Parts: sequence; C-alpha cells; structure tokens
Amino acid sequence: MITRKQGLFTSNRIGGAIMICVFALLVGCDKQADDGPILIKFPHVTAPATPKGQAAERFKQVVEERLAGRVMVEVYPSAQLMSDDDSLDALAFGEVQMIAVSLSKLDRLTLKFQIFDLPFLFPDLQTVEEYQASDYGQELLTSMVDRKLLGLSFWHNGMKQFGGPVPMRMPEAAKGLKFRIMESDVLQAQILQIGGNPQKMAFGEVYQALQTGAVDAQENTWSNIYSSKFYEVQPYVTETNHGYLGYLVAVNPDFWGSLPDDIRTELTAIVQEVSVWANDQSANINLAGREKIIASGQTEVIGLTAEERASWQRAMRPVWEMFSDNIGADLIAAAEAYGKQAE
Ligand code: LMR
Repeated sequence: MITRKQGLFTSNRIGGAIMICVFALLVGCDKQADDGPILIKFPHVTAPATPKGQAAERFKQVVEERLAGRVMVEVYPSAQLMSDDDSLDALAFGEVQMIAVSLSKLDRLTLKFQIFDLPFLFPDLQTVEEYQASDYGQELLTSMVDRKLLGLSFWHNGMKQFGGPVPMRMPEAAKGLKFRIMESDVLQAQILQIGGNPQKMAFGEVYQALQTGAVDAQENTWSNIYSSKFYEVQPYVTETNHGYLGYLVAVNPDFWGSLPDDIRTELTAIVQEVSVWANDQSANINLAGREKIIASGQTEVIGLTAEERASWQRAMRPVWEMFSDNIGADLIAAAEAYGKQAE
C-alpha cells in the first residue's frame, strides 16, 4: 500500500529532479571540465554541528567520494565567508556555486516563499516536508531562475522557539520587547502582532546584539540557539514551535547548465540522497540542542499549556490574512489541509 507520504514524496521528488534536469538541458552548454576539478564553493551561516552544517559536510563527503578528482566542494560554515544576504548576491554573480539560505531570506527575491513563515500554519516538520514535496513546493524550485537562483532541494532545520529576558507564557509578555528576526516581512508582521518591536538582522550579529541589549529577544530553533550560544545571553526560552525554519539548497543556473551531463546527473542524485539523510536527522539534532540548553542551567525552558499555546495562535493568526493576497488563499488552504491531516 502506498501511504499518503510515500505517494506524494516519491512521485514529486522524482518529478522535481526531472524538472531540474530538463531545465539544465534547456540552458545547458555541457562544458567538459578539462581544467582540473570543478570547484563548488558552499558558504553558509550556521555551525558545523547544526542540521545544515551536517548536511553540507555530508554533501562534500559524498561528492568527493563519488566524483573524486572531478568535483571538489569547499564548505564555509558559521558565516566565515559571508552573510546569507551577501551569499544570494555572490551566487547570482557566480562567486559561489551553492548556498542553503533560510526560506525566510528569499523574501527579498520573491513573495512565493512567504507561506513558510506564516505562524502556526505547519504543525511539524513532516507536514512541511509533504507540502514541499507536493506540486506547490516543487514549482518553487524553479521560480527564481531569472534571479540566477535554481533550487535543487529543501533541507530542514526545525521549528522555532521564542527566547527572551522574561518568561513569555502568554503573548502579552512580548509587548515592547525588541525581537531580532530574519529578513522577512511576514516575521516582521508576526512580531508586531504580539506588540513586539521587530529588528531585521543577520544571524552572525545576534549573539552580540542579545549580549549588549541591542535586542531583547529572538526566535530560532533549538539547534541554532544552542550552537550559537544564544542560551548564554537570554534567560528564558518559550517552547512555542510557532514557525518553521528550513532552507532552499540552490545553485547558480548558469553554473548548473554548464556542467557535463554525467556530473550534473550525479550531483542531482547526491543532493536528493543527502536531503533525505539530513531531513531524517534534523529533529534529533534539535532535540539534542534542547537537552543541552536545559542541562546548561543558563536558560529556563518554559513549556506551554494547550490554552497558553492557543493564545499565541490567536494573537498571530491575523498575519495569515495580511499576506493572503501575496501568497494566495488557495495555497494557504492547501497547506492548512496538510496540517489538519497530520493531527
Ligand atoms: C537565522 O538567520 O536565524 C537563520 O537563517 C540561520 C540559519 O541559517 O539557520
């Protein structure tokens, strides 16, 4: 029997891979690599021990095993090469060949990814994964080719939590606090909705901003809060699981089209395999981060009752309506239906 998950997933994953290959054939010039190995520079902003850090390292390892001598991958973690914003420009200009920026940060290129930032739309990672594997999700991969960005796959980080200087059991506690957010208008609206003051800021600046009081609060996943040590400089985290943080693994379409066919085919297969591997373990990496934060004794983790969580949901729900023209009410309804089936 084919389950809902298997049915959607397999057919659409294969469909997505075919779409990417067809796209490459259309733009492709199939240049043979005769000047030594092809170099893929892959900068990202999180620590090596995060879901994205692990996935990027695994990608490098598998590529250098299966395409030994033909393709080399240089991974630059922890924003050591550039910020996410700069990496979007660097990819477009061909200075780097692969990136995995969070979906929220694509807001400056397209409105199509705003759906992933809607608070409490996706209840868990599996629901997000099903949506991404559907036709709606797979169409997003090729939606920014004119901006020199071709999506190959989606990687999860996890669900976001709110951290701050006071225990935030109810949304009213967020009133007046300055929240660091990613560069996304939906996230900005979400914080305004609970009476907070949103500040868009690069990931690499958050620790210091919390430390110096430039911001009071932030939202992120357990693995990012742990690996970037935010728990040292914010005494409380509320376990809201209110939103999704995940990535688009993307390449420059001209670079992709210029690869020899056999290399592009193998890289496509490796990205798909690594995505399955990485997405299977992201939840556990986040769980481990949560445990280590609790064990540190430096941040108190606030669990919510069902009623308290419902108050956060009610407070933020108007954001859906605000962005429904941008996103499409039909897409929001489809995503919501995936979530309801999961309940
Ligand atoms: C953030 O800026 O908080 C995230 O995008 C970091 C990341 O890449 O997980």
